[in-house]
Amino acid sequence: MSTDSTPWSVVRQKAEKWFRAIKPRRPKRAVMGLLMIVLLSGGTCYWLMFIRVTNGGLTFENELLIPDQLFGTVVDGRRQFDLTVAEGSREFLPGKRTPTAGVNGPFLGPTVRLRRGEDVDLIVRNNLDEMTTMHWHGMHVPARMDGTPHQKIEPGESWTASFQVDQQAAPLWYHPHPHGNTGQHVYRGVAGLMWIDDDNSDALDLPKTYGVDDIPLVIQDRLFDDGAFRFAVNQGAVYGNTMLINGTWSPFLQVESRRIRFRLLNGSNARIYYIGFDDSRVFHQIATDGGFLETPLQTNRVILAPGERAEILVDFSDGAEVVLKSYPEAGLLATMESFFGGTGTGNLQLLKIVPQPAKRASHALPNRLNTIVRIDAGQAAKTRPMVLGGPVQGGGGGGPPINGKIMDMARIDEVVRLGDIEIWEVNNRGGQPHPFHVHLVQFQILDRNGQPPTGAELGWKDTVLVPPGDVVRIIMPFERYADPQVPYMYHCHIMEHEDNGMMGQFLVVEEPEQLSHRTKNLPGN
Ligand code: C2O
Ligand code: CU
Ligand code: CU
Repeated sequence: MSTDSTPWSVVRQKAEKWFRAIKPRRPKRAVMGLLMIVLLSGGTCYWLMFIRVTNGGLTFENELLIPDQLFGTVVDGRRQFDLTVAEGSREFLPGKRTPTAGVNGPFLGPTVRLRRGEDVDLIVRNNLDEMTTMHWHGMHVPARMDGTPHQKIEPGESWTASFQVDQQAAPLWYHPHPHGNTGQHVYRGVAGLMWIDDDNSDALDLPKTYGVDDIPLVIQDRLFDDGAFRFAVNQGAVYGNTMLINGTWSPFLQVESRRIRFRLLNGSNARIYYIGFDDSRVFHQIATDGGFLETPLQTNRVILAPGERAEILVDFSDGAEVVLKSYPEAGLLATMESFFGGTGTGNLQLLKIVPQPAKRASHALPNRLNTIVRIDAGQAAKTRPMVLGGPVQGGGGGGPPINGKIMDMARIDEVVRLGDIEIWEVNNRGGQPHPFHVHLVQFQILDRNGQPPTGAELGWKDTVLVPPGDVVRIIMPFERYADPQVPYMYHCHIMEHEDNGMMGQFLVVEEPEQLSHRTKNLPGN
């Protein structure tokens, strides 16, 4: 697979072909002809963009499914959760059965509720007929509990992740991570939410009644082929034209006409969403990947790349019906991308909200949500370059690469000293956007193209969208969990990029120097 099959190169090739074909014999006619072609193709392009990536005309006849919650049971002071991954099927589209996979059910999994300070055992049973793993995205866990490609669960086997929940309230999620197959497993339906509470979230006066005023929203796009999911790679990744919200097609949700909290996850393989309401109403973002913002952020859009989360508070006290949607990203690049691949942010209806009379008063908007101490660049022990895209060192397939390299499970790419604060400079030299994710940590955005962060980029993140040409410096403390043998991952969260090798491995160790002689290769997997 070519590493730079960007939409732009396709555009360029097509344009060059056109120009060769209409090379002028008589200049005046040629100019007129050219003008016609530009006008016609512009119009068609605009029109095609909408038929290819809109799902307009939904009638919102299905009540939004709300995943079950899983609180686990306490055994000998440890809270135990049972998660069984298995195949199933569900009728998403009327009259069609879709083969799926899910956790404790046919599609997606329960919302796992965790509390800071608790010792937990997450017992994952693999009832699929192939190997998988289970990763706790955004969680601070020891490397051997992280559910990366190294913690394989063979069919019929179980694996237990044991750790202490030790991070602030945050909307995390879990999903498989078998190398080369993450995209397929998630696409079939294996993923779920994992929410942490702490003293701060307890104290905040926010909507907290699950499924009533505190609503999980897992946003995913799928392609259907007569009822079956079609896993079709297009421009290097898998995009769908049918939206599923919590596994519900064409969904509506009744809420009380007051302030409602939504916890959004972009659980899609590749599509980026530019989320807002169809009346462009203003709402407040209160949390990012890793926890609450300091204060509610007033906005009318939230951009979510695959793997990213956001919590928002939306006021429905006007009682008006409104549709949550994804807007087309502004700009010609996005338009052309949509035209040539259906890969843009699209113009997609997600969920119709139907307000009902309120049974209680609205929650006030909190003045303050959290304290985020900024990490100063001067505290960093080192800066690591992370170059996304561009050529693969020494040629070869796969990718796009990171630092010229394609993922190798037997190679350690970076060794971090336990206790250090580091800056990673993520530089996108390719032609497509990449959401960059780092395991183990939550990071802060230090700057983007030299500019300090604003708005939601001031929050704790574990995944950051890096568009072509952008340089984003992230800063993070590596406070916990040294392991000289088992690595963590960093990767692009477009799952087909990750599966094609846009991923690297890092160790956290107490003494990096003593390790250098044997970090080149890992014993087995
Ligand atoms: Cu959400 Cu390495 O993963
Ligand atoms: Cu992760
Ligand atoms: Cu990518």
